[in-house]
Amino acid sequence: MKKIGFIGLGKMGSPMARNLYQAGHEVMVYNRTPERALSLQEQGIQVAQSIEEVVKGKDVVITMLSNDEALKEILIADDGVLDFIEEPTLLVDMSTVSPETSIMIAEMAKEMGITMLDAPVSGSVNAAEGGNLLVLVGGESQAYENLKDIFSVLGKESYYFGLNGAGSRAKLVINLMLGMTMQGICESLILAEKFGLDRPQIIDMMQQSALASPFLGFKRHSLITENFPAAFALKHMHKDFGLILEEARKNGAVLPATSAAYQTHKSAINHDMGNQDMAVIFAELLQQSGKS
Ligand SMILES: NC(=O)c1ccc[n+]([C@@H]2O[C@H](COP(=O)([O-])OP(=O)(O)OC[C@H]3O[C@@H](n4cnc5c(N)ncnc54)[C@H](OP(=O)(O)O)[C@@H]3O)[C@@H](O)[C@H]2O)c1
Repeated sequence: MKKIGFIGLGKMGSPMARNLYQAGHEVMVYNRTPERALSLQEQGIQVAQSIEEVVKGKDVVITMLSNDEALKEILIADDGVLDFIEEPTLLVDMSTVSPETSIMIAEMAKEMGITMLDAPVSGSVNAAEGGNLLVLVGGESQAYENLKDIFSVLGKESYYFGLNGAGSRAKLVINLMLGMTMQGICESLILAEKFGLDRPQIIDMMQQSALASPFLGFKRHSLITENFPAAFALKHMHKDFGLILEEARKNGAVLPATSAAYQTHKSAINHDMGNQDMAVIFAELLQQSGKS
């Protein structure tokens, strides 16, 4: 059993930290907004008052934060994780961030003798709660081997892709498919709407087709009721599309449909939809299509 410091108790981080605790690991958590730690504290999990406290003396420190800026704030700003972490503590970032940031921070950590893995996850809140995520890992293979017991609590499968940045790259690959799947489903439903076809019936037909997917099943209720409580917030999908297109540009990948989907997401952000679930892109397209 490992001593784990867990930073970032958002929609994903909270159930992940709880699962590690329930699996018997010694878990201490920290969150910028302390109130978000209260429910875990009530379940018996130790809450740190500072980054120093959550980092000191741990076998592994895990971060699960919004984006590149949040990660840099927590890891490399003054009084951040890198000011306190000491060998042999391992650092694992599970946030979705740019491969460039993953590599940059891993190099900074390495200069201090600290090994860092990028290990973002695929799967949303339900998968996090059920320990059914996919963990996509980049970094030293020995560190990956050492942390497989933790990854097996958080996920049903972990994949080692190579050196630092490879986990973050794999995450952008699967999230391109995620964002484009959502866009494709929503555009199909917009056409159905304009044809005057019954939405629940159309979704049921889709689920009997060769294109059936668990993902459409998860979003069915939201798409029918037009109520979009966030599991994966649209602002995060918008951020991921930005990272994907930046990487595509740098690596010479031509992704015309992805660029178009990014514009829809940008427009939804401008319409204040960022904190709703990514499926709210349907509402954005309805609005653009002149909801009848
Ligand atoms: N939700 C999903 O379905 C899903 C699935 C796979 C991957 N992801 C990825 O996982 C990561 C976390 O997602 P989430 O849905 O859990 O996000 P979330 O609910 O928005 O939580 C974000 C976390 O980051 C912290 N944070 C944000 N800005 C910060 C800053 N400047 N300094 C310190 N802490 C900061 C927040 O702290 P506060 O509480 O203080 O704001 C919170 O703990 C993201 O990279 C996302 O893309 C999400």
